[in-house]
Amino acid sequence: MIRYYREKDISEIELIGKLIKPQYTFFINNYTKYLVYELHDHIVGFISYSIIQEQGEIIDIAVKKEYQNQMIGTQLLEVVIRNMKTSGCNNITLEVKINNYQGISFYEKFGFIQVATRKKYYPDGKDALLMIKNIGDKMNNIYILAIETSCDETSISIVKNGNEDMGTIILSQIDIHKQFGGVVPEIASRNHIESITFILNELFNQTHLKMKDITAIAVTYGPGLIGSLLIGVQTAKTLSFLYQKPLIPIHHIIGHIYANRLVSEFKFPLLALVVSGGHNDLILMKKEYCFKKIGGTLDDAVGEAYDKVARVLDLGYPGGPIIDQLAKEGNPTYNLPLPLDDDSYNFSFSGLKSAVINLIHNERQRGSEINKKDLACTFQTQVVNILVKKTMRAVKELKVKQLLLAGGVAANQGLRQALKDNCDKEGIILIIPPIKYCTDNATMIGAAGYYAYRKKIITDLSLNAYATIPYDNDN
Ligand code: KG4
Ligand code: ZN
Repeated sequence: MIRYYREKDISEIELIGKLIKPQYTFFINNYTKYLVYELHDHIVGFISYSIIQEQGEIIDIAVKKEYQNQMIGTQLLEVVIRNMKTSGCNNITLEVKINNYQGISFYEKFGFIQVATRKKYYPDGKDALLMIKNIGDKMNNIYILAIETSCDETSISIVKNGNEDMGTIILSQIDIHKQFGGVVPEIASRNHIESITFILNELFNQTHLKMKDITAIAVTYGPGLIGSLLIGVQTAKTLSFLYQKPLIPIHHIIGHIYANRLVSEFKFPLLALVVSGGHNDLILMKKEYCFKKIGGTLDDAVGEAYDKVARVLDLGYPGGPIIDQLAKEGNPTYNLPLPLDDDSYNFSFSGLKSAVINLIHNERQRGSEINKKDLACTFQTQVVNILVKKTMRAVKELKVKQLLLAGGVAANQGLRQALKDNCDKEGIILIIPPIKYCTDNATMIGAAGYYAYRKKIITDLSLNAYATIPYDNDN
């Protein structure tokens, strides 16, 4: 018979408890409950657990030696899981010693998954394994709370099942950094600190979701500005620790690629053209969450070239959208080279940028006025031409099923149109995220977080931030 403990059971509970922890003592408070398994007027096993703010936690399970392997532990755990479901919990956590293989496989049979290690958790210095099981109404749905602070946008989002944006907040600091002509790292991290907890509250208010509904927390841990990244990483780690949620590390560029998942299914193999302020890569994906870099920039990324050209033309920051707009109003009348027009899948934009700077210099020396619209249009034409040329060749040679466009420069109207025209002509499926998911946002991190979670890419609280990290993990 399974029943709640009574005062008289305490000494028997403590004896059985010593089988799992030599110093075991009975402990009860407002949240802790004990169930005992009674057989022939004796306690042969017990389970203790707590429910705090609809968050269930298994504290201990112990069964007398001679009664083990008789489904006693199983029955105790089943009753507790049922109790937790009726109490409105969405998930249950527990800690088990890292080398307690029998215990780990027992919990895995109940659908608990391993999500993190807790270093030196036990008095003997051994690590604990944190395990979690999702239950309740939202059991079949995965809600990822995502945090993105890699540069000058403070953003958080809740994404359901990898493709449903439940709510996103993006606080852009562009107006603050504009006056300095670029992002000032120290100012960026200070602003992240000031905003992050505020928008976290705001997001939960807007979405009417609670922390208990969240399955896991995904955070950008690199690449980016180290001080900025650390704010997001620290916030995610704190929430993960406090609410016992799995922590998922996301590479910023993988986030950009998965922004496309918010608008379409993926069909493999696919090719992603990643164009941002820091990256300019052609990525082949043969299956979910596997990335093989087949080409990249040898020097500047395309967004960086846009920003530098905009600076020499005194157009302001960030240069990409301004040049894009001017290009629409101009004609390609200047003479600029098509950069790195070879048989590789690599790119190079520093030569094109220097050509623009030399051209401006020469024109000024000759005393002639620069037509900014025409120069912007010529520059954009060459950038788009080479990006499209190499990408379309890769699409054909690698026989991919889809082409994805990713990164901040995916917002570029000229590039979007040229890729669309070429893909239409060749019968290739092109996926481009809507503009709001092109520039930095946490929704894309939540989309990537879902697939990382399904692949059990989960880290512990030792997670750090990195200014540069590779993401090529073709396996
Ligand atoms: O992805 P993102 O927001 O940040 C990084 O991860 O780097 O990309 C920012 C870059 C900047 O260089 C910005 O100038 C560029 O994307 N960008 C554009 C456009 N919108 C943003 N470049 C060209 N055309 C645009 N419309
Ligand atoms: Zn980005």
